[in-house]
Amino acid sequence: MKKAIVLGASSGIGREIALLLAAEGYSVGITGRRFEMLTELSSKNQEVFIPQQMDISFLEDTVNLLNELVSKLGGMDLLVLSSGTGDINEMLNFDIEKRTIDTNVKGFTNIVDWAYQFFKNQNSGHLVAITSIAGLRGNGSAPAYNATKAFQINYLEGLRQKVHKQKIPIIITDIRPVFVDTDMAKGDGKFWVSTIEKASRQIVKAIHRKKKVVYVTKRWRIIALILRVLPRFIYDRMG
Ligand SMILES: NC(=O)c1ccc[n+]([C@@H]2O[C@H](COP(=O)([O-])OP(=O)(O)OC[C@H]3O[C@@H](n4cnc5c(N)ncnc54)[C@H](OP(=O)(O)O)[C@@H]3O)[C@@H](O)[C@H]2O)c1
Repeated sequence: MKKAIVLGASSGIGREIALLLAAEGYSVGITGRRFEMLTELSSKNQEVFIPQQMDISFLEDTVNLLNELVSKLGGMDLLVLSSGTGDINEMLNFDIEKRTIDTNVKGFTNIVDWAYQFFKNQNSGHLVAITSIAGLRGNGSAPAYNATKAFQINYLEGLRQKVHKQKIPIIITDIRPVFVDTDMAKGDGKFWVSTIEKASRQIVKAIHRKKKVVYVTKRWRIIALILRVLPRFIYDRMG
């Protein structure tokens, strides 16, 4: 039986990915801060889901709890990091910026480094992180969110280069959603909003295909291309 850990499985995209993996026969360790949401999910199939409450901004605890969870699962073939946070922050409230950095940068790095070491020792494994198209450019309404997503994208690219150089068979997949109908999809002017189910199906398919970088939903790939080449003097006026 294959084994996966999905961080951020208490709601949204992570929860749906956990359900899809379970339906495919995986044993799934599920994490998040809201334990009642995790137990609600695990009650669907107590044989398959192993819930573990954790706040990824507590770095040392996270590593200890992940080690425990892997032991309970009996191994790990796949780690999906869907935990993340972000808020509109027009006033640059530092508490919001700090929480975003603590979760999306420090928490993220702590977990992907732990997963890298685990998979390196095992000489196999698949690391998947849910970043965002937001990481491609800055955003005046949520500066920390976009900047932390840029960090994640860059970090994963660095790790991919590292495993290639070291000839370690670890797959690294960067999933970049745009608008998915969860609590995270904030702000006005949303379009092409995907259901959680459709986005998660595309994500799981991309995982099986061992993709390196994927936009979700697929049609956003063209917008991503445009965003990347859009001249700064135009982009600066778009906020
Ligand atoms: N929805 C979109 O439109 C969209 C677009 C682009 C990228 N994304 C990315 O997709 C990922 C999943 O978000 P979502 O849309 O599924 O929203 P969501 O339903 O709010 O899920 C966020 C998940 O992250 C967990 N989380 C947040 N802070 C945490 C912390 N400090 N420690 C542990 N877990 C934490 C939450 O669990 P607890 O609250 O229980 O801890 C929850 O399970 C995020 O990284 C987000 O940036 C989403």
